[in-house]
Amino acid sequence: MKRRQFLKSLAFTAPTALILPRVRLFGAEAPSNKLNVALIGTWGRGEAHFSGLMSENIVALCDVNEKHLAFGAEKMNCPKAKQHVDWRKLLDQKDVEAVVCCTADHTHAFVANWAMNRGKHIYCEKPLANSVQEARVVRATYLKNKNKLATQIGTQRHEFENFNRVRELVRDGAIGQLQEVSAWGDRQLRRSGYLPAEGSPPPDFHWDLWLGPSPEHPWNPGYFAGGPGMNCLSWNMFWDFGSGQVGDMGSHTMDLAWNAIDADLPTSAEAKGEPFNPEVTPVTLQTHFEIPANDWRQAIRVSWYQGGALPESPVKYLDVKKIDHGALFEGSKGALVADFTSRALFPMGNQADLTYYKSRPKSDLIPPLGNFQKQWINACKGSLKTSCDFDYGGKMIEMMLLGLVAYRAGKKIKYDGASGQVTDCSEANDLLARKYREGWALDG
Ligand SMILES: NC(=O)c1ccc[n+]([C@@H]2O[C@H](COP(=O)([O-])OP(=O)(O)OC[C@H]3O[C@@H](n4cnc5c(N)ncnc54)[C@H](O)[C@@H]3O)[C@@H](O)[C@H]2O)c1
Repeated sequence: MKRRQFLKSLAFTAPTALILPRVRLFGAEAPSNKLNVALIGTWGRGEAHFSGLMSENIVALCDVNEKHLAFGAEKMNCPKAKQHVDWRKLLDQKDVEAVVCCTADHTHAFVANWAMNRGKHIYCEKPLANSVQEARVVRATYLKNKNKLATQIGTQRHEFENFNRVRELVRDGAIGQLQEVSAWGDRQLRRSGYLPAEGSPPPDFHWDLWLGPSPEHPWNPGYFAGGPGMNCLSWNMFWDFGSGQVGDMGSHTMDLAWNAIDADLPTSAEAKGEPFNPEVTPVTLQTHFEIPANDWRQAIRVSWYQGGALPESPVKYLDVKKIDHGALFEGSKGALVADFTSRALFPMGNQADLTYYKSRPKSDLIPPLGNFQKQWINACKGSLKTSCDFDYGGKMIEMMLLGLVAYRAGKKIKYDGASGQVTDCSEANDLLARKYREGWALDG
């Protein structure tokens, strides 16, 4: 029984002065109904969470950069919140009920997993993981705890109503039987290799904690040269710190497709891209996956294109290059092209008269989810329902990261989603997990 239902039942059965911890009987915004929240990463993307968290009870903050820690505490006006530079200490703070994680990508799966292991709800910025294995471990921990914990991956564009309009068109047969799905992004951030040693970190910057589980690298201020919310573009292309556009815009753009296709893990992956650089993830890349059939569609091919690679346009007069981040759904009777906020339908051939398709009455449209972060806060307070939980989004990033494994293996690989193993290439299996520095465990 959920806590709210439990309390509701008590309201009818218990005698008058029952004292319960954190009784929430006076509406979502009542003081007694506030969540004890913590923010890890208090600058940059973290700032997008300030106002949402300020309506709750902020009990802890963490940042490896003490200046950013002070910035967050001041802007969120929470002088009483405990301040940490090591997220592991924050997660051991007993009064923290829910955590928002805005750290660098290579620590996401760690923070997410450790938080759930300590019974804390978690909102984790995208991408959820930096390796196939990380995605699987975090999803498994979530599935064990899904009846008590609320999770959300930070793909906040999911709140755009266009996502569900696209889903309805695909599901209701506007393009006939779904056959193929592509998503793409055009961001290109080219680097040649890790930055060379340059000076030493400022005394209030905990570089060793920033590196966390990743291998040792020398300090270079160039990793922190970006503006707030854009600094991830200074480090996310290096293998030890991110997965480049696969995890960056790939998380958002594939979400537009993933929301419409009810997909399970792929049975194969293959990739084509620029020559492999052991330090930097590829800019130009395309990855292709076979996704099994489900109860409403046949098996489909799903592809991700980035850095100049693009799917072929379904019609000559549509230049998909003009859509910076988009998705294409191809079916037996036509195609649907979408970006985050708009869509266009292309019925194809003489049979595509649209008589086979009935648009839904307004009353049957999928309702708007409202504010994406608020959805998670409400979920923490009882419903546990979010649209991008670690099962839904965990599978998606597992597929995307498997594409990088196929790219590195240099051939098409077969994948068993149940065991998380590549079944026909042992070198590819070795690429499913990252190696961590001593002292760092993913399942802590
Ligand atoms: N959802 C979105 O639209 C969106 C937009 C931008 C960034 N992001 C994601 O947010 C994350 C942060 O991106 P950013 O551009 O703000 O990066 P950033 O480098 O500016 O880091 C944000 C803050 O986190 C701190 N930090 C980094 N690692 C930490 C750690 N291990 N422990 C504690 N604090 C740590 C930094 O010092 C900084 O103050 C990235 O994973 C990125 O993918 C999401």
